[in-house]
Amino acid sequence: MTDARIDALLSELTLDEKLRLVRGRADPEGRATGYLPGIERLDIPPLRLVDGPLGVRDREATAFPATVALGAAWDPDLARRLGQALAAETRARGHDVLLAPGLNIVRVPTGGRNFEYLSEDPALTSALGAAYVDGVETGGVGATAKHFVANNQEHRRDTVDAVVSERALREIYLPGFRAAVDADASAVMAAYNRVNGHYMSEHRELLDGVLREEWGFDGVVTSDWWGTHDAVAAAEGGLDLEMPGASVAELFAPHSRGLRAMLRLRLSERLDLDPPLLWRLVDRVADDGQPDPYPFDFFGDPLRRAIDEGLVAEATLDRKVRRVLGLYDRFGKLDGGRSSGSARSGGSGDTAPSVDWDAHHDLAREVARRGTVLLADDGVLPLEEGDSLAVVGPNADEAKVGGGGSSEVTPTRTASPVEGLRERASGSRVTFERGVKRVANPSMFDVPGSGLRRRLRTGPEFDAAVEAAAAADVAVVVVQDGATEGEDRDSMALPGSQDRLVRAVAAANPDTVVVCRSSGPVEMPWAEDVAAVVQTWYPGQADGAALADVLYGADPGGRLPVTVGRRFDDYPVAGDERRYPGVDEHVHYDEGVFVGYRGFDRDGVAPRFPFGHGLSYADFEYDDLAVERADGGETGALDATSLGAPTLDATVTVANRADRPGREVVQAYVEPPAAPEGVARPERELAAFESVAIDGGERRTVSLTVPRRALARYDSRAGWTVDPGEYGVVVGRSSRDERARGTVVVD
Ligand code: NOJ
Repeated sequence: MTDARIDALLSELTLDEKLRLVRGRADPEGRATGYLPGIERLDIPPLRLVDGPLGVRDREATAFPATVALGAAWDPDLARRLGQALAAETRARGHDVLLAPGLNIVRVPTGGRNFEYLSEDPALTSALGAAYVDGVETGGVGATAKHFVANNQEHRRDTVDAVVSERALREIYLPGFRAAVDADASAVMAAYNRVNGHYMSEHRELLDGVLREEWGFDGVVTSDWWGTHDAVAAAEGGLDLEMPGASVAELFAPHSRGLRAMLRLRLSERLDLDPPLLWRLVDRVADDGQPDPYPFDFFGDPLRRAIDEGLVAEATLDRKVRRVLGLYDRFGKLDGGRSSGSARSGGSGDTAPSVDWDAHHDLAREVARRGTVLLADDGVLPLEEGDSLAVVGPNADEAKVGGGGSSEVTPTRTASPVEGLRERASGSRVTFERGVKRVANPSMFDVPGSGLRRRLRTGPEFDAAVEAAAAADVAVVVVQDGATEGEDRDSMALPGSQDRLVRAVAAANPDTVVVCRSSGPVEMPWAEDVAAVVQTWYPGQADGAALADVLYGADPGGRLPVTVGRRFDDYPVAGDERRYPGVDEHVHYDEGVFVGYRGFDRDGVAPRFPFGHGLSYADFEYDDLAVERADGGETGALDATSLGAPTLDATVTVANRADRPGREVVQAYVEPPAAPEGVARPERELAAFESVAIDGGERRTVSLTVPRRALARYDSRAGWTVDPGEYGVVVGRSSRDERARGTVVVD
């Protein structure tokens, strides 16, 4: 549809109808997370938005691995395929927009939603986020880049003010969103928090300024759910869509169970109460027929009044409606149908694709395998056929399908570690002992009284687990954390007595493999006392099948997308409440650009496992690094639109010396020259990477293109700036495992 036709449609809409297009309602079927009822008179159908990002949250769907596991695969092609599969499931469930991907940077190692985000590094997040968006969009579904921006902790997420420098925003927190915009994301979700004093749902400088004017975003900005605070400020600040927008009456209708569950989470944050108590409060409010204590509906009557009173121009509303209609149009929803692909994929027709659920389960298994990181291995892995196994761990008999909150998915089927290993080890003995009490998997849909903070105790099961471990050839201890949206983890330690269990099992069997299913980095005080450590994040519904693949020799190719420090205090956000969790509702990003490995490098702190680290069953050797300029090598201020243009080409030969195939992730880091007085730059920063499968005994030439942004720093006056001088280009297996080095002088 042309702009002229959208304008014509707009001119037919009454004020009421326009307001109906910028504020959500409860889905009468109770399935969509966000719902616009449309305008029947003008053949504008309902628009349906659904969570995101680990799978489609509507009835059963494939529970894919957590986003951080995708981050660990370091492979944009895989991210694109995952995006396409998610789009197919979104469409099969009748929705138009997926509320994904999550592009926030892992700043705080205990952040409650780290599992929903890709990494601690902007270059990695950008490359994978863009590919994910591209997959979703070419699959015929709108992608929503969330949560824009600086929603880097769950603690007080709905009110906290992130006090962050422009340089840190530009260099660390914004690039992932810019990449999503460049990849043509349909929507951006404004975060709950404030940034430098303004709620993101009304942040004119970042929404209208950076996102729209600078980056050219012409899609829809939606609020996060109940994240709108003021009709005029949000309307003027650049918000297009208020979600969920449901009235109190709608909220307590039977079909709004999902919305109520979300509200429960939000209220508990605001009032700092445990969800079960809140659940009772919400119920009481409903039973009493009292109005809800929180206004939800800003883009309804309040916005109408503001327009009547001249506080907001109707033209401002028109711009929002035009963008919302543009979103409809993108997927053929204004032509009486729904294309089977976006304009970009050239699709047509109006039937939702049927999903090959088996193939999607296999894809979930592939992503889980590829996101698995072999952190340590003294040679016990791969397991040998015929090894007897003692599988130990509080939840090893269930797949870890995800964390708690809006990303929860009901899987189509599951494979637990016990099941996966039993199936693969057919013929050999595989025993299972829990060892300690189950770790609670917190859920947004917990029934009252279930309690999120269940304590773990040890009992007779503990001794049984140790005995089973002693009697087996290999002990596999599966440990996990329990993270959820809405709260950060209390500490980086594994919950309950799991560390004790690992130590006891390792003392009983020298061939102990620890499998860590966690939302992000956890303390591993036993790491040096066990034979192997395998990080599988939240592997999703194919958990055990993928684990068996890796333990029996499939080379996963996973590399750490986050630094695994020894303790919380080693991270750059530690040591001062100002930085985390914040003081008086302000969290000061005083570490600036020194997030994750950039901070460990600056502080000279050795992580337990560095960013980019991951072992392989193969054996790779690097040779013949050549670094060449791909452009004129200009210095000084850059035109921001050219940030993605190539500036260096790095070519290196990688040989697989083993007699088995393997997957290597070749990583290039740039070491900048000294910046002008008073400007500190990270020692090295990820600039480019490539995941390559190499057969045993083969050599591959790998070419990496370093974009201009990798050399540049952001200066608040001059903008993106390349300093003259000598740049080191380090190619290696992690941020701290250098295999080849070149230099380039830029003058
Ligand atoms: C709140 C979460 O922050 C967001 O990610 C999600 O999409 C919405 N709720 C809707 O469930």
